[in-house]
Amino acid sequence: MSCSTEVELDMSVQSPNKNLTVGFNVSDNGEPYYMVKFKNKVIIDTSFVGFDFQNMSSLRSNLMLIETNISEFNESWQMPWGEQIDVANIYNELNIKLQETSELKRKINVVFRVYDDGIGFRYEFPEQDNWDEALIANEHTEFNLTEDYKTFWIPGDWDIYEHLYSTTKLSEIDAISYIERTNLAQSYIPENAVNTPVTMVGADGTHLSFHEAALRDYSGMTLKVDTENLNLKSQLVGSENRQAKVVTKLPFNTPWRTIQITDNAPALIESNLIVNLNEPNKLGDVSWFKPMKYTGVWWEMHLGKSSWDYGMEMIDGKWVDTGKAHGRHGATTENVKRFIDFSSQNNIKGVLVEGWNTGWERWIGFEDREGVFDFVTTYPDYDLDEVTSYAREKGVEIIMHHETSAATETYEKQQDTAYALMQKYGMHSVKSGYVGRILPKGEYHHGQYMVNQYNNAAIKAANYEVAVNAHEPIKATGLRRTYPNIISREGLRGQEFNAWSQDGGNPPEHLPIVAFTRMLAGPIDFTPGIFNIKFDEYKTENQVNTTLAQQLALYVVIYSPIQMAADLVEHYEANPEPLQFIRDVGVDWETSKVLNGEVGDYVTIARKEKGTGNWFVGGITDENARTISISFDFLEADQDYEVTVYRDGINAHWNDNPLDITIEKLEIDNSSTINFNLAEGGGLAISLIKK
Ligand code: NOJ
Ligand code: CA
Repeated sequence: MSCSTEVELDMSVQSPNKNLTVGFNVSDNGEPYYMVKFKNKVIIDTSFVGFDFQNMSSLRSNLMLIETNISEFNESWQMPWGEQIDVANIYNELNIKLQETSELKRKINVVFRVYDDGIGFRYEFPEQDNWDEALIANEHTEFNLTEDYKTFWIPGDWDIYEHLYSTTKLSEIDAISYIERTNLAQSYIPENAVNTPVTMVGADGTHLSFHEAALRDYSGMTLKVDTENLNLKSQLVGSENRQAKVVTKLPFNTPWRTIQITDNAPALIESNLIVNLNEPNKLGDVSWFKPMKYTGVWWEMHLGKSSWDYGMEMIDGKWVDTGKAHGRHGATTENVKRFIDFSSQNNIKGVLVEGWNTGWERWIGFEDREGVFDFVTTYPDYDLDEVTSYAREKGVEIIMHHETSAATETYEKQQDTAYALMQKYGMHSVKSGYVGRILPKGEYHHGQYMVNQYNNAAIKAANYEVAVNAHEPIKATGLRRTYPNIISREGLRGQEFNAWSQDGGNPPEHLPIVAFTRMLAGPIDFTPGIFNIKFDEYKTENQVNTTLAQQLALYVVIYSPIQMAADLVEHYEANPEPLQFIRDVGVDWETSKVLNGEVGDYVTIARKEKGTGNWFVGGITDENARTISISFDFLEADQDYEVTVYRDGINAHWNDNPLDITIEKLEIDNSSTINFNLAEGGGLAISLIKK
């Protein structure tokens, strides 16, 4: 249907199941606005949209409708790896073309896609006469809420997402309070705004999560909070160097502004809205990347058992190896071989090696980081030839590590050489890191400059058959659909904080919040599987704040196509029974089902492994013990499974007794319903292996 008359001013479009309605209109002054209804209740009330520019007048009023178009879309696409194989992408679209009535006569389109599980909308700047470059000073997208929701949020930091979540009413959000609590290597919280995904729960059980999809060549969006009027407003991450927050040529499209809208918490996790709003795979066959579990020379540095650096010295402004290596270097040929042996014996395909290359002596705290890290030169005690050929013999792949230290020019210059080196050695994935303030100064991790850095690195890496897992990344926005070599990322307070943070680490409620916030954006490299929960030999003042059973459950609950078995080899070897779960658990899924859950409290997920048909179940709870009932009706009928349950022991407690675990065989089939007790900070992991 196409129409272009004033009669049709009040336009609306519904979701395929008709539960959601988006309405759009322009005011008497030509100001565009939209609203959203869920089951006949107004969720987003009159909310205006528009732009300010650095070099021309704003585009927020004097607009008129030129044309509108409603269309239907229905496809199914397949993930090369993921939480499931088949993804249904079904929506109705409302496409609105607007033009200025005043003399510039600029054109802009607003496109809404309405799904059963939420909406996405974006702005399209079509090619037009007399306008070829946009210098966006501010995007004004309002989300005018109608209820003082219970909100799960982190501050709108322009430089990092590694904050603990707060749970408050929308009207009580206070992002500024984080500034003094934070001692991160980079952090900038300019105002009372939150980062996305931010998730809200209403009194009637309505669940909302705000985020964005397909973030490319644009700045990340934080949401400024108006606590009085219960209003959120887009606030793009800025730059001190550039003319505007976003500088781009026309034609272009902004990222999608998304709201997942469901009437229960599990449906948020099952929603594919974010990936669906991205373009189809542009890389074609990426089967050179295989989802995998991995171990690595990593946790031992965070515990202080070994170090990244080799111990060279600064002499006359130059780093020189004076033979004074301190002997605590972790990435030695010998140590890496231990991890290779252990991995090959335990059905683990990857070994990450951090601290293999020169530059670590001048890592944290140095301002002159450009030119320091080198992504091809090994320390003298690490033999890349020997390690990679030994790994190959054992059927294991070495995972590369590039700590860029946020020195972007150095990394950009070396990328081709660095990825070519990986290709030569048959290494198909890299963990990259961007710790510290961005160089060049004045840029932030989440601004347009860095969005392009992260995306371009991944696109370049694909040419060398390299997949990327970035730490200190830009948020996930579903680009893995378009570039399936973007496999995982950090972008949250990961396990590492338990090793060294001085604020008690991640509290038991952390992951039951993460599952319904950060995880809605995409895969998480959380690095689970710590068995030595209290760090007995190393850091007795720190610990992991979960039970051992929860560490196992995380392999199922937290989705990533790469899952680390993060603890030390000796800690696994001392605990072969719980280790069996890590050996067995899948990493690539045919289907996933969220069995139950409440945001911030608990969640249980069942996933069916691709290829084998084996099922794995993971459940986690916050600081409260609880009993969950699981109906196993998702199992195939007439199929026998060898079932092993790893559950909290009767005295388990995340702090008092985290290692108390009961491992038992149970008879379970698709008619079974069983109650399980989860301890405070506890969990449950179940493997159901086809007989
Ligand atoms: C921070 C990352 O999150 C961590 O995993 C890594 O070990 C260090 N940076 C060093 O690159
Ligand atoms: Ca980090």
